[in-house]
Amino acid sequence: MPNITVSPYLPASANSSLGSVYTRTTLLRKMPHILLIFALSLLASSSIWAQVGWNKAYENGLVVSAEGVASEVGRHILQQGGNAVDAAIAVQFALAVTLPRAGNLGGGGFMVAHMADGTVASLDFRERAPGLAHRDMYLDPDGKYLSDLSKTGALAVGVPGTVDGMVKAHARFGSLPWEDLVAPAIALAREGYALSYSQASSLNYTGSAFAPFEASRKYFWAPCEKPSGSTNTAMATNVVKATNTAMATNVAKATNTAMATNVAKAANTAEVTNVAKSTNAAEATNVAKAANTSTSNPTNAARANDPGAEAAIMSVKDPENPTDQVCRAFEEGEHFQQNDLARTLEAVAERGREGFYGGWVADRIVQTMEKYDGLISHEDLKAYESVWREPYVVDFRGYRLHIMPPPSSGSIAVGQILRMMETQELDSLEHHSAAYYHLLAEAMRRAFADRAHYLGDPDFYPVPSKALGESDYAAERMASFNPGQATPSDNIRHGEVSMIKESYETTHFSIIDAQGNAVGITTTLNGSFGSKLAVDGAGFLLNNEMDDFSAQPGTPNMFGLLGGEANAIEPGKRMLSSMTPIIVSKDGQVRMVAGAAGGPRIITATLQNVLNVVLFDMNAQQANAAPRIHHQWYPDRLLFDPMSLSADTQALLRAKGHSLAQTTLARVHSIVVDSQGRLTGGVDPRGDGYAAGY
Ligand code: DON
Repeated sequence: MPNITVSPYLPASANSSLGSVYTRTTLLRKMPHILLIFALSLLASSSIWAQVGWNKAYENGLVVSAEGVASEVGRHILQQGGNAVDAAIAVQFALAVTLPRAGNLGGGGFMVAHMADGTVASLDFRERAPGLAHRDMYLDPDGKYLSDLSKTGALAVGVPGTVDGMVKAHARFGSLPWEDLVAPAIALAREGYALSYSQASSLNYTGSAFAPFEASRKYFWAPCEKPSGSTNTAMATNVVKATNTAMATNVAKATNTAMATNVAKAANTAEVTNVAKSTNAAEATNVAKAANTSTSNPTNAARANDPGAEAAIMSVKDPENPTDQVCRAFEEGEHFQQNDLARTLEAVAERGREGFYGGWVADRIVQTMEKYDGLISHEDLKAYESVWREPYVVDFRGYRLHIMPPPSSGSIAVGQILRMMETQELDSLEHHSAAYYHLLAEAMRRAFADRAHYLGDPDFYPVPSKALGESDYAAERMASFNPGQATPSDNIRHGEVSMIKESYETTHFSIIDAQGNAVGITTTLNGSFGSKLAVDGAGFLLNNEMDDFSAQPGTPNMFGLLGGEANAIEPGKRMLSSMTPIIVSKDGQVRMVAGAAGGPRIITATLQNVLNVVLFDMNAQQANAAPRIHHQWYPDRLLFDPMSLSADTQALLRAKGHSLAQTTLARVHSIVVDSQGRLTGGVDPRGDGYAAGY
């Protein structure tokens, strides 16, 4: 086994190509914003690297995120003397501008921080169910789950936690002025930036899903021109059908209850009205574009049936809906400005928490809820509080893992999987062997069965965190493990522990500064672009995190995950999450920061990244590029990265009884401290992330 020693970080040199345009405390305010944006865009586009063999090392600070300009923002905050938490706050806000499919103001997330003085803290800024939410809010009177309602539109939205989380993180650990950390995001929104290929593509792929929401069309559709001779009304009608068919069918059955009235309004009235309004000019052309791609029905169906279909979901074409005109798509390199978002960020910069949960921004959120029959009220916004929680600690082979505790399920699951793996002889296992993947998959299968039964918001449900993490319990769970044969998921149920109360987008970024402070944040709107519903006048998207609750026992959510009582909807409760920011240390020194996007695959991808470093001595980039597998109990399938398993390995796994399927498995953004104490970035080749260090 590797035994890496950690050297102290070298002193900060703080030189960079942009260093001269900043001054220490006034930072970005005195700089012409356009110059900043130009410089950051140039940097981000000029240096793409993800080399496995030559893993570039930085001596002072490093930021690895899913998007280049945001990583550069973080690096420059570090170079201005900000610490890792300052940089994390600036990156979080920058991602709200440059990665609207996952970065957010209208969502939430988790932060784990390991400070140089030894303090380890985790902050839960997960969304909460609104006060009017109730357990059966997505069921019709016959008990049928109206699954679109927890995924798209106002009823899908949980009370956002991001702004409160950043304010709390800053109050406890921040060192630069708050406004200076929001300033880069304001500049990026106001001055705009050049869309990368993936930014443009994701907006284009999701275009149809924005169709029902006027503000979303305004913010996230490319300007359109009305082609001559078009038949826009017919196309608009097609879109209405595409968007609402399943909902309308469900709602028709539910005409007798108040809930049904809400559902009808949410699903049809407002949306139909909006689309109907859009039979003119530019909007109609946009609607025509919407007719070209499938909307929520195939998307959700695909997700529910095949959590492996994540990458393809947004690009599914609807052959039933051909049209002779297409709204102009966003192009790579196109300038993208978000003036309303800039105004919201300014309110946050000037008034902190109150700038979002009070004042005109809160008014706009509540108006959006009223317009589309959502539930979030001014009281919900005022009452929102992010929470400091005790990090979940797992010791493994001389390393200590600090992981975000529940409502992150990743902490318990990672701990359980490691404990279960330890019941077997690990040293003789080769990476990438059928035997290794079999053991991993069997441990994952058992951990996810427990996840479905025992895990939820610890403020509402007595999650047996400690008992689930015990070695004896892991041995019990693995008693049925057979090295030669997969255990069918139908034969696996949750285990028995004592119930004593114990104390398709997401994005993760990792930061370490020159003092050795380390931060990992995983943040999300849940699905790509969340509920697809933007707040008119405020320029940001709202999450669809309510889908992470267990809307109905035994019915999978959009990631195919099952849940029960522990994760049932209750007012004010936080929905269970798979987001798993982890900080790994040895002898008190940070060795690795990791986390991922990818729904439940976050847990297994982050875990395998850690194993690749701790067990197999890989560098950051090797650990990220290495093939991964995923098993989540149900559906009973062992997923693997496309082309990553040889035909022989696949045959061996099939012979053990595994049902195999290929799909891309999450996107991890990590930092590993190498044997000289230098910082190396792990940028997942499955995405287009970026490492910015100095
Ligand atoms: O918290 C969760 O587990 C989900 N809302 C995460 C969603 C996600 O990762 C989608 N991403 N790629």
